[in-house]
Amino acid sequence: MDFKEADIRAKQLRKTLSEANRDYYVLSSPTISDFEFDALMRELQDIEKEFPALDTPDSPTHHVGSDLGDKGFAKYPHRYPMLSLGNTYSIAEIEEFSDRVSKALEGEREFTYSCELKFDGTAICLTYRDGVLARALTRGDGAVGDDVTRNVLMIPSIPRKLKGTSWPREFEIRGEIFMPFSSFDALNAEKEELGEPLFANPRNAASGSLKLQDSSLVGQRSLQCTLYHILGEDLHFSTHTEALAAAQSWGLPVSEHGRECRTIGEIEDFITRWDSLRHNLPFPIDGIVIKVNQLDYQKELGYTSKSPRWAVAFKFKAEQAHTRLLSVDFQVGRTGAVTPVANLDPVPLAGTTVRRATLNNLDFIREMDIRTGDFVYVEKGGEIIPKIVGVDLESRDGRTSEIHFPEHCPDCGTPLVRDDGQAKYFCPNATGCPTQIKEAIVHFMSRKAMNILAGDATAAQLFDLNLVHDVSDLYYIRMESLLSLEGWQYRSAQKFMDSLRESRNIPFEKVLFALGIPNVGETKAKTLARRFGSIDSIFSASREELIATEDIGGIIADNIVRWRENPDNILIVERLRAAGLQMSVTRTAEVDGNGPMAGENVVVSGVFSRSREEMKALVEKYGGRCSSSVTGKTTLLLAGEKPGPEKVAKAREIGIRIMSEAQFNDKVGLEEEKVIEGTLF
Ligand code: IVH
Repeated sequence: MDFKEADIRAKQLRKTLSEANRDYYVLSSPTISDFEFDALMRELQDIEKEFPALDTPDSPTHHVGSDLGDKGFAKYPHRYPMLSLGNTYSIAEIEEFSDRVSKALEGEREFTYSCELKFDGTAICLTYRDGVLARALTRGDGAVGDDVTRNVLMIPSIPRKLKGTSWPREFEIRGEIFMPFSSFDALNAEKEELGEPLFANPRNAASGSLKLQDSSLVGQRSLQCTLYHILGEDLHFSTHTEALAAAQSWGLPVSEHGRECRTIGEIEDFITRWDSLRHNLPFPIDGIVIKVNQLDYQKELGYTSKSPRWAVAFKFKAEQAHTRLLSVDFQVGRTGAVTPVANLDPVPLAGTTVRRATLNNLDFIREMDIRTGDFVYVEKGGEIIPKIVGVDLESRDGRTSEIHFPEHCPDCGTPLVRDDGQAKYFCPNATGCPTQIKEAIVHFMSRKAMNILAGDATAAQLFDLNLVHDVSDLYYIRMESLLSLEGWQYRSAQKFMDSLRESRNIPFEKVLFALGIPNVGETKAKTLARRFGSIDSIFSASREELIATEDIGGIIADNIVRWRENPDNILIVERLRAAGLQMSVTRTAEVDGNGPMAGENVVVSGVFSRSREEMKALVEKYGGRCSSSVTGKTTLLLAGEKPGPEKVAKAREIGIRIMSEAQFNDKVGLEEEKVIEGTLF
């Protein structure tokens, strides 16, 4: 690798690593496995070692990932930086660690190791002052953390007050908040029922739960805590194990599985033992932590910018299962990419039975020479769906057959195309292929896009029943239609309609992301929204103008051009615009607290030139509040054509003002809406 190649690769790696860090820490939704992450990090470290000029101080090799979010938690600096641990995957590397320590301590002094379970959760830093929990901070970026004290107080194993009186006046104790498998399974089962996105693993469930805004919900998540590191100014312990024993005597949760080891052999035994015992533990661990036990030696060894020199983590390899590949299905995704999915002879793996796994792409299948009937190795990374990582050619018998990639879309029959440079096959029928449309609706409704509260199954149901043919139809659904469908109750339908209404306030950058233009993810959508300001400018920009935008390359520009050339997409955008969605960054959707509707409690009834949902959104935009039935609190009935007779009667009875659409438009200074695309309802 020459300097230029190394420079390009380092940039790529930094980008991948920082995106992976964000997915893992901020979004609690990892996109790559820890093992892959560590491998990429090592590759970057090696490049920086070989080409020191590429080793910049802001490289992720020198910083811990940040979990700081924008959920409104107060942020406070850590008194002592909150660092990470160096990872190792072999006993040889533990020996290297031990040699480094001995050398630094000049080999003369005796020391022992504290070996502990490496709990797979989310780090927490507790400060106790005068025996009372004063503050709980997340790791954040290592220097500053989110204050989650209120949430932490909902975790039963964390005491608000310490036992006895022998504790130091002020100290910090750090540890891990984690979720037992049983609670994780129950939580995901509940989420599945509600149609909400699942947590990929207990660790993400723990960090997601710790950062819930509603503390009372935290108490329902069955979180647990274990503490493993005490820090403070006037601590008088000589060893780490002694300090932990003291913490335990003050009523703090400390693991009972730690052990003091004297030799590498003892450490190795501890690791081997737990590599097998971990399968019986009710909570997840992802390795073993090995620490120098003597606190004055810890002090002498000190820290690098990222981790202590006195400790190291031994990470367990992801568990693998060995099973037969029975058949391969081909699935179409949202962007039309057709991916092979393996059906496996069911096999237990890391607490669940695995039946299906991803197989990457055709090149992977050919390179590995995987055939149906082969025995394959399956691994669970950080993701929900396991993947096939290898094939056991030695066990191949006469019962195998080559995997044939289809030439036509398995869903709509359109001939597939292979995109140059990508190892993927695509179905080009984006606006006519049922699976792509359904997936597009799911994506559009998702939390990070328009945040419409309904499960994935709802998207399929609405599409299959012909109620929604593309995403824009969502805004033209009637409450009555929903109520006539199986499984819909008044409450769920109301919730759905309310979230559709609220989604009209979602900023343009998210609307752009929601449209699902291939390769325009959250970040690119933000960049494009900032640079161009509106959908119209993006649609009229030349390819060159698009490419001139930072971070927007030829592939994305081509995708945008191709997308906007499809008249179906233009129609979708126009119908969404007519439904009141934000199509530019300038139009602020903020509620105007002093607006002409301020203080009004409005009931909207009847047929208007805009949809009723849009009328409600307008009322709210101009400062009013909407409710569905006329009560003593109602101040105004906004009545279109044919308003509900009971509502009108009740309004008259209690003397509530009735306003027509024209009067409303007059009051807020709006013109009557011209109806686009047939009727809005
Ligand atoms: S000691 C200065 N001990 O693993 C760092 N960490 O991958 C001291 N972890 O950031 C950390 N179990 O969040 C320590 N028994 C244990 C641990 C543990 C889990 C976490 C911790 C750390 C991460 C590093």
